[in-house]
Amino acid sequence: MEGMKKLAAFYFSGTGNTRFVTEYLLGRLKEAYSCTLFDITKKAEFGRIIEEADILLFAFPIYGSAPPIPMRTFVHGYGKFLRGKEIILVETQYFFSGDGAASLGRTIKKYGGKIVAAEMFDMPNNLADVKIFPIKNGKEIAQKLARARSRADKFARRILQGRARLRGFSALSHGIGYFSQRKFWWKGEAEKRTKLKIDHAACVGCGLCAKNCPVQNLRLEGRKAAQSGKCVLCYRCVNLCPKKAITLFGKSPPETQYKGPMSEG
Ligand SMILES: Cc1cc2nc3c(=O)[nH]c(=O)nc-3n(C[C@H](O)[C@H](O)[C@H](O)COP(=O)(O)O)c2cc1C
Repeated sequence: MEGMKKLAAFYFSGTGNTRFVTEYLLGRLKEAYSCTLFDITKKAEFGRIIEEADILLFAFPIYGSAPPIPMRTFVHGYGKFLRGKEIILVETQYFFSGDGAASLGRTIKKYGGKIVAAEMFDMPNNLADVKIFPIKNGKEIAQKLARARSRADKFARRILQGRARLRGFSALSHGIGYFSQRKFWWKGEAEKRTKLKIDHAACVGCGLCAKNCPVQNLRLEGRKAAQSGKCVLCYRCVNLCPKKAITLFGKSPPETQYKGPMSEG
């Protein structure tokens, strides 16, 4: 709208949680900002969009207390446009990251961006094949989404009042995030990118995984899913495959798949 400040939001979301929180939050901010939302895996003139925006929002899920590869690549790729920009951070997690929001915030600051607000949202788990974190039933998912909505309400109010907090930015959170997870996560990250297990006997060649992979890591080869070694660990395909033929960290295929917040109505 004419005269309103422009907010450009950029998100990466493997299974929909981050997109859900971001869309909800923008709904609360639109009284003060003219908001636009961009999936960073789609093509757009991001440099120009960043330049023209008054305020930016970056939203991402946390993996092992680290931001996902596409979001890190995006920040490095467009880092030169971030100098002097005010930036809001939205991080989603299952239950723990230590300094999840700041793990990206520190990189943004190196490019001269100014973090003005940061929040972390506990969301349903999407690691469908990891047996110690089983996917929860619909009611528990709905409860978690309701809590995330009220946290987003509060976060939006504070942003609008100019007194939002920077969650995850303390030295203690930094230490916890690094020593409990990130240190170990970085080491194995490159190798994990090649480790999707595709059960070719179960795969029916429907192509759903290839069609939906956010980074074109998957393709069909001889009517079976095949990978290219550039998986970004988002778990979309593991949760989507109608034959549960794709596994990543688990030893066996998922029993229950996470269908994402959009399926909760
Ligand atoms: C590879 C991977 C690693 C994860 N690591 C963590 C973690 O360290 N801490 C945590 O609380 N949740 C972790 N999660 C859960 C996700 O961060 C969480 O479900 C997130 O909201 C998913 O967002 P999305 O649906 O937008 O992809 C991990 C998920 C994946 C796929």
